[in-house]
Amino acid sequence: MVNIVVFASGRGSNFRTLYQASVEGIFKARIAGLISNRAQAGAVAFAHQNNIPVAIVKPADFSSETAFGEQLIRQLQEFKADYILLAGYLKKIPDNVVLKYPLRILNIHPALLPAFGGKGMYGMRVHEAVFEAGVKVSGVTIHFVDTEYDRGPIFLQKCVDISQCNSPQEIADTVLKIEHQIYPIAVKMLLENEVEVIGRRVILREKKT
Ligand code: GRF
Repeated sequence: MVNIVVFASGRGSNFRTLYQASVEGIFKARIAGLISNRAQAGAVAFAHQNNIPVAIVKPADFSSETAFGEQLIRQLQEFKADYILLAGYLKKIPDNVVLKYPLRILNIHPALLPAFGGKGMYGMRVHEAVFEAGVKVSGVTIHFVDTEYDRGPIFLQKCVDISQCNSPQEIADTVLKIEHQIYPIAVKMLLENEVEVIGRRVILREKKT
């Protein structure tokens, strides 16, 4: 069985959606564990309720990013992780973890990258910036994680009309529905295809069985 480990820091609606998708067989992998930096996160409570193993790993407990990354790698190995899905994880993934899992870490971002992304652009800040900019479409980006925030090669995007949204919160609610639709689909695509990155373009080819 393919093992997925989810990283989440917050309420965990994407984590719940991914877990549900795995239970329903939408993709053929199991959620082998949750890693969080916040013991009080909603995602952690959901994991406990559903007997999903949890590890709390806080960067502040380590003397360097490398040491933090080494602990994450130890934990990922204990969970026998094949793939990592970031779902509202607010810490930077250390470089040693990125290097250990090439093209195996996806992140979901609630806007159309490369716009409205980068350090500090998370949660409602993204939707506030989108609202202020007056753009008529926003959307969701699922991308591979590399050593910079929100910069890795784009795996899947979907846009959504926000021209009728009257507040950042309305944009967030509209976009979140799309997040829940496409994250499981992206995982299925990742599991079922060979992935090649040419320049910044992600190319998928069906796996030969
Ligand atoms: C989502 O909007 C996700 O795109 C972003 O953080 C938010 C997490 O929400 N990275 P949830 O914890 O999955 O409900």
